[in-house]
Amino acid sequence: MPFVGDITKFLNEEAPAELRAAIAARKKDEILSPSYPYRAEMSKKDYEAQMERLQIELVKMLWDLKATGKRLAVVFEGRDAAGKGGTIKRLTENLNPRSAYVVALPKPSEREATQWYFQRYVDWLPAAGEIAIFDRSWYNRGVVEPVFGFCTPVQRRHFFAQLPDFEKMLVEEGIILVKIWLSVDRAEQLLRFLEREADPRKQWKLSWVDVEGLKKWQPYTEAIAETLACSDTRHAPWTVIRSDDKMRARIAAIQTVLNAVDYAKKDLQAIGKVDKSICGGIKLLNG
Ligand code: ADP
Ligand code: AMP
Ligand code: MLT
Repeated sequence: MPFVGDITKFLNEEAPAELRAAIAARKKDEILSPSYPYRAEMSKKDYEAQMERLQIELVKMLWDLKATGKRLAVVFEGRDAAGKGGTIKRLTENLNPRSAYVVALPKPSEREATQWYFQRYVDWLPAAGEIAIFDRSWYNRGVVEPVFGFCTPVQRRHFFAQLPDFEKMLVEEGIILVKIWLSVDRAEQLLRFLEREADPRKQWKLSWVDVEGLKKWQPYTEAIAETLACSDTRHAPWTVIRSDDKMRARIAAIQTVLNAVDYAKKDLQAIGKVDKSICGGIKLLNG
């Protein structure tokens, strides 16, 4: 498999010493950054019980979207291995795939690269009764593209100039737009990559961008901060979720989606209170 071995090579040959030390310890409390508010993951039992309640609410929410013709677009963003895939899987697990679909577009084709940047995403926006879940989105132009030089600085500036109006149009059109940024720390990210590398079922997730991206933590940090600052608008604010504990992060993400929609028989107690120490505005962004 391509890229298998490259993560270990980075760890042994290029990773900063403190990163290597955290990984060598392999203890969750040393992997978790000191600024993360918990020293351990939540219990699996609590997670599963809460997830079941949330998934029941999601089914009710989708019924209501169908009944009332509402449209929902959820954007998932974050660094590689931030946990987008697993969160989206839990979100869609019990939903009709015809109504709740995932949009994970590949890099633009040669033809698409000559079109208006937002054009190919517009095709996938939801119709009545649908949830479109974007597994990465137009935000590529804010973060991965400049970090790798896939776009020019002029293209990026143009993107930022259009972005607030683009999202405003969606919201004024009546689409419910939820933007979730999963924020993972560096040691946790590296650990997840090592796990992917070691697991033949997960090796497909490794890409050239992931491997090269390991060396670009800091350029990513700058591009992310700038992108979130430019796009955290009143009509389309970000929800940042610290995802070092995947289970807490998945719960917070689904709560965020449920809280964004008014639906019949909404059970606020089942949804529960969002954990503000890991889920909130862009001030929660860490690294
Ligand atoms: P993922 O993390 O979604 O599994 P990758 O880490 O391989 O995928 O790539 C991250 C993002 O960068 C993807 O959305 C991909 O489409 C985009 N990307 C990769 N190569 C290019 C390119 N040459 N031009 C523009 N975007 C690209
Ligand atoms: P500039 O017009 O050169 O100031 O670039 C605008 C923004 O694009 C900068 O603030 C950077 O965040 C980003 N950018 C452009 N090229 C790169 C790159 N190669 N690596 C990281 N960020 C970049
Ligand atoms: C995930 O953990 O699923 C990621 O966020 C997707 C990726 O590796 O880029």
